[in-house]
Amino acid sequence: MAREIILAVESSCDDTAAAVCIEGKVVAQTVARQVAHAKYGGVVPELASRQHTTAILPVVQAALHEAQVTVQDLTAVAFTQGPGLLGALLVGTSYAKGLALSLGIPLVGVNHLEGHALSVLLTDPAPTYPYLVLTVSGGHTQLDLAHGPLVLEPIGSTLDDAAGEAFDKIAKLLGLPYPGGPELDRLAQNGDPTRHTFKPPQIAALDFSFSGLKTQVLYYLRNQVAENPAFIEQERPHLAAGAQHVIVSFLLDKLFTAAEQTGAQELAVVGGVSANSALRTQLEARAATAGYRTYVPPLEYCTDNAAMIALAAHHKLKAGQTTDHFAVPYTAAR
Ligand code: KG4
Ligand code: ZN
Repeated sequence: MAREIILAVESSCDDTAAAVCIEGKVVAQTVARQVAHAKYGGVVPELASRQHTTAILPVVQAALHEAQVTVQDLTAVAFTQGPGLLGALLVGTSYAKGLALSLGIPLVGVNHLEGHALSVLLTDPAPTYPYLVLTVSGGHTQLDLAHGPLVLEPIGSTLDDAAGEAFDKIAKLLGLPYPGGPELDRLAQNGDPTRHTFKPPQIAALDFSFSGLKTQVLYYLRNQVAENPAFIEQERPHLAAGAQHVIVSFLLDKLFTAAEQTGAQELAVVGGVSANSALRTQLEARAATAGYRTYVPPLEYCTDNAAMIALAAHHKLKAGQTTDHFAVPYTAAR
């Protein structure tokens, strides 16, 4: 029987990515990160769709080249079906459908969040089931108990903004360029987190909320700037460190409470915000004290990528799950 060779494309937001997975092992992946949004201070959906249409072919070709395979070798084509921006998803969906149809091979639609949850299996050593997985990205914040590759039990999620959105919005208030999360992280490394402190959100159970925190920072800055117009400029690293501290502590408090409640011993953090240096350090420190094992993907698999989509597709194919050609993208989490 022919080796399983999957090509996966990911185009849910502002990164165009492709990956090749052979017999369950990711052998190549490429990403074109769209920089055109920076001057608008956020992702412009129409611009993202247009950039995907020009980036997708070169990105796929680079992945195939790196994997040393041709389209004729492929045995399945996978794509991110949702959640994400509709126009952006349509590019990957249409491309994948066209390719699968022309080659006469199976098509596999993947849920972006299932992809993130599996991204941690791209680490060595990988967690064993069941593992608790905190997904923190620009669009989503959720806690799930992973019982198997495609079996996620939801146990908490955000009531408003996502964690990455909180980083980006607070970074914007501090005058940092988009996407603000990585910039804020970098700046906070030279800041004192105890100089400007913010109250953590008070949210019941295992849910999250970030919109109140953003407002808290906004009012704090407004009051301080009224007295000293140069306040933000003078205090930027300390403000970044204070904001980062409260977000990271809030996320980890929920994760460790969930670990206690579920009895899970293996804890994973995935998605763009899992690239945050303070989050990674504090996760490890707290877990070591409490005796948990922790897993975060390597940086390239934290932010959006197609490797995680390819891996999810591999598991879907193993479970006999393929997608028909009438499938349409979806924008909300499901
Ligand atoms: O997973 P991702 O690439 O895209 C979505 O699925 O949304 O996550 C992007 C988010 C952005 O909000 C970005 O600011 C945030 O991840 N991010 C970070 C860091 N790197 C990326 N936030 C905090 N610290 C970082 N180092
Ligand atoms: Zn993502």
